[in-house]
Amino acid sequence: MKEAHLGSGVVLRSATAADLPDLLRICLQTGDSGKDATHLHKLPELVGDIYVAPYVLHQPDFAYALIADNKVVGYLLGVLDTQAFENTLAQGYWSTTKAKYVQVDSEITASDQDLLKDLAKQGFSDPALIAKYPSHLHIDILESHQSAGYGKAMIAYLLDELKTAGSTGVHLHMSSKNDRARAFYKKFGFIEVTEDANECIMGLIF
Ligand SMILES: CC(C)(COP(=O)(O)OP(=O)(O)OC[C@H]1O[C@@H](n2cnc3c(N)ncnc32)[C@H](O)[C@@H]1OP(=O)(O)O)[C@@H](O)C(=O)NCCC(=O)NCCS
Repeated sequence: MKEAHLGSGVVLRSATAADLPDLLRICLQTGDSGKDATHLHKLPELVGDIYVAPYVLHQPDFAYALIADNKVVGYLLGVLDTQAFENTLAQGYWSTTKAKYVQVDSEITASDQDLLKDLAKQGFSDPALIAKYPSHLHIDILESHQSAGYGKAMIAYLLDELKTAGSTGVHLHMSSKNDRARAFYKKFGFIEVTEDANECIMGLIF
């Protein structure tokens, strides 16, 4: 179990499967371009089943929970080799997760429907993107613990780890509307690699 102390008793430690209920909840609570998306969904685990669980279950070496006052208040998820990770998920994770959502209530929301479309599309990244930026990451911190410097410390920690492990570059996907996250990543030298009205991919070469 890896552990890093970020000050004021706040700790970044390796995440385990036991953390998943907390991590899935945090994913939902930060899922509307960084704001709470709970009211937008009737399938509360779906967003985390796509964007959090695969990492904790299949790339735990770079999966972290942010702990404050004995509670999980955020997470940091990294993947060293996106291509290898996607090959692993293609061998069972996506089919099992798609099966979980085959029979859904007809009263699901438009945001749930968008996520089901995202789930259906999961597979393989653009080879040109991962040739240049082979690693990728996700970070989410609950509003109660944002703007206290933890995000900066967490990203610095992960970038250092990925570099040390031999990565030559890292990318991430974010909502094009998430202006704050965009400014946050630019501070580390990330640039916009591709962008449309919904999604921006940012990348950093080490
Ligand atoms: C984006 C996020 C990871 C940043 O982490 P954080 O701990 O809140 O940010 P930090 O306190 O470490 O601040 C880092 C930088 O972000 C910016 N920042 C911090 N608080 C901010 C605020 N309230 N408004 C705008 N920018 C802010 C500042 O530029 C700051 O740099 P500085 O200290 O040199 O001025 C975090 O706010 C978060 O999880 N937000 C919700 C989910 C999300 O958007 N995730 C990213 C999806 S891709």
